[in-house]
Amino acid sequence: MKVFVAIFLTMTLFATVYYADSEIPSLKEVFSSYFKIGVALPVRVFSNSLDVQLITKHFNSMTAENEMKPESILRRGADGKIFCDFTMADRYIRFAQQHGFVVRGHTLVWHSQTPDWFFRDDSGNLLSREAMIERMKEYIHTVVGHFKGRVYAWDVVNEAVDSNQPDGMRRSLWYQIIGPDYLELAFKFAHEADPEALLFYNDYNEFEPRKRDIIYNMVKDLKEKGVPIHGIGMQQHLSLARSIEQIEQAIALFATIPDIVIEITELDVDIYRDNVTKYQTAPTELLHEQAEFYRKLFQVYKKYSHVIDNVTFWGLKDDYSWLRGFPVRRNNWPLLFDENYQPKPAFWAIVDLQT
Ligand code: XIL
Repeated sequence: MKVFVAIFLTMTLFATVYYADSEIPSLKEVFSSYFKIGVALPVRVFSNSLDVQLITKHFNSMTAENEMKPESILRRGADGKIFCDFTMADRYIRFAQQHGFVVRGHTLVWHSQTPDWFFRDDSGNLLSREAMIERMKEYIHTVVGHFKGRVYAWDVVNEAVDSNQPDGMRRSLWYQIIGPDYLELAFKFAHEADPEALLFYNDYNEFEPRKRDIIYNMVKDLKEKGVPIHGIGMQQHLSLARSIEQIEQAIALFATIPDIVIEITELDVDIYRDNVTKYQTAPTELLHEQAEFYRKLFQVYKKYSHVIDNVTFWGLKDDYSWLRGFPVRRNNWPLLFDENYQPKPAFWAIVDLQT
């Protein structure tokens, strides 16, 4: 009996997905004259044919959700020697090549998801500035060199800004050990390893006025100094509480930097406005509010499509979203497709914009 139920459920799901898949417009086609449409993927999707079907239909750019971060690549042997393991990351590249995707590389220099031992010597003491620069150089050369020609854009430095610091710089171990010039060194090393790759500074809450201005001044200064930085990655982890007007102001300001590319690198729209509310199922009115939010947001993205070259969603479908575990564990519905692979009102809102 159970087996029959299981078979029946699988067939129904497959039929609905097939239906959704064959009937609805493809996002990458809808936006083809504006920007690439990307998606962040965990490695397990490659063995799920329903996921693969959805991914290949709608997206033409991909980012590894975790598998190209330092903690996923860096290894230390029994002899203490540091080396890189690209087994997981290479699966992304193979998939991308098979299906004609471009790949964003995420990320090289970050305070998070980087092993603590990377900043220390064999006795556990923090490295000297010189040793840290050497280690950073070797890591960036190895990683960017490995993916040369196969990763078109790198988030070279992620989340270096802290608007609560007097100088606006986060006191990460990178900053503490090397000093503020760690950013320009990182971009220089990445450019040496792949002169063709587009190099980005990537951050979140980039629409907050103080943070926005710090990022603007920092990237402008780096560019004026001749540092090989090509763009600003706006993560765009948003929520219904955010102001579209402030988001537009940030994009407009960043767009005034000469020769700058903007990529929306980690888009999602949290339906909660606080950290305590928890819904079991998605309230319909919030899904409609979310659709309106996405509609206005994509109106802005389209208006700036002369500088925005990629819009990447941070996840394929609601139940895969990192927002189910962050900032607290709860159901959340921040993306365009629901748990059953069905397009949500937000999907139709941005697709309707085109007609
Ligand atoms: C998140 C991933 O989605 C999670 O799976 C992981 O546990 C933590 O990191 N900013 C970033 C991304 O630059 O790398 C983060 O991704 C989300 C916030």
